[in-house]
Amino acid sequence: PDAVSLAVIPGDGIGPEVTAEAVKVLEVAAPSGVKVEQNRYDLGAERYLATGEVLPDSVLAEIRGHDAILLGAVGGRPGDPALPPGLLERGLLLRLRFELDHYVNLRPSRIYPGAASPLANPGEVDFVVVREGTEGPYTGNGGAIRPGTPHEVATEVSLNTAYGVERVVRDAFARAQRRPAKKLTLVHKTNVLVHAGAVWWRITQEVAAEFPEITVDYMHVDAVMIHLVTNPSRFDVIVTDNLFGDIVTDLAAAITGGIGLAASGNVNPDRTAPSMFEPVHGSAPDIAGQGVADPTAAILSAGLLLDHLGFADEAAALEAAVIADLAERDPGRPRRTSETGDAVAARLA
Ligand code: NAD
Ligand code: IPM
Ligand code: MN
Repeated sequence: PDAVSLAVIPGDGIGPEVTAEAVKVLEVAAPSGVKVEQNRYDLGAERYLATGEVLPDSVLAEIRGHDAILLGAVGGRPGDPALPPGLLERGLLLRLRFELDHYVNLRPSRIYPGAASPLANPGEVDFVVVREGTEGPYTGNGGAIRPGTPHEVATEVSLNTAYGVERVVRDAFARAQRRPAKKLTLVHKTNVLVHAGAVWWRITQEVAAEFPEITVDYMHVDAVMIHLVTNPSRFDVIVTDNLFGDIVTDLAAAITGGIGLAASGNVNPDRTAPSMFEPVHGSAPDIAGQGVADPTAAILSAGLLLDHLGFADEAAALEAAVIADLAERDPGRPRRTSETGDAVAARLA
């Protein structure tokens, strides 16, 4: 293509700060001769507070017309009385993931040579979490009776369809097949969540039969918390449900050098709608507006976006520039957000 169109949603808190750096890098990383057309959408807390709008249908339709989406972060300070809990998270972020059928939430975890892992001897850590993105306890399948009373009963029912589980498990096997270690770990809690667990277990076994080269194992999600800290190099591809994947990937980020480095892609592998790339972290209200957020996760997410659009060489160059930059950072001197964007962009220019 000689042009690609991006919908850019900077969002809330540090979202706009890190997205500005990701765009800065993307503009120099994109192949020469390919025009990167950007449309900005001011969705998030400010627009909601000013207009009551979260994600109007007409805006969703416009966003759908792009080749890919770059998102910063959405959400306010937990407990803020002006923003009902989940309003933006569910109404904006999850609605995009669900409507655009982002069933593969791809979250790579690598300890880059220059990154500071809090683990003393982590070994070679390079795995990817394939988190289901459209089902599980995230669907909003629940409710409350007698809310606000001492007799309140609340449910949040996890939805697991054979169709939804099979497509994400299949994608995870295909990714494992392309990786040198060729290993896949199903992560669940089949010893307690027996109904959902049975679907994940059965389908993983069935698909495994089609991938004889892949070594398949299983680990309960609580035990994953142990192994991520004591022996993270054992993992290659992890496939798991929406909520477990959310939790696993924050710990994975912490052990690989911090949440400021963790990138993600909400991928629609069938390409029936644009995929969306965003850091794993949120809007970080505690540091917003100070210009100190690490934009590396947003920059690496832009790299995943380039790769998804077919620009594999440019994506690799972006990642290499980040790795080189990480090696040059001085842990004793915290950087400004824009310094990192400038440094990575300068390496690519
Ligand atoms: P968070 O990821 O925003 O912050 C957790 C901690 O990590 C904070 O101490 C924060 O300062 C730090 N941190 C996060 N990103 C950083 C960066 N780039 N550089 C340096 N430090 C960074 O998670 P939270 O505090 O649980 O959530 C805050 C808000 O963000 C909530 O409203 C939540 O719903 C929302 N959220 C949104 C997304 C998203 O848009 N994808 C993801 C997670 C949380
Ligand atoms: C993430 C976030 C979101 C999630 C929230 C904000 C809906 O924590 O992207 O990891 O739970 O998926
Ligand atoms: Mn999360």
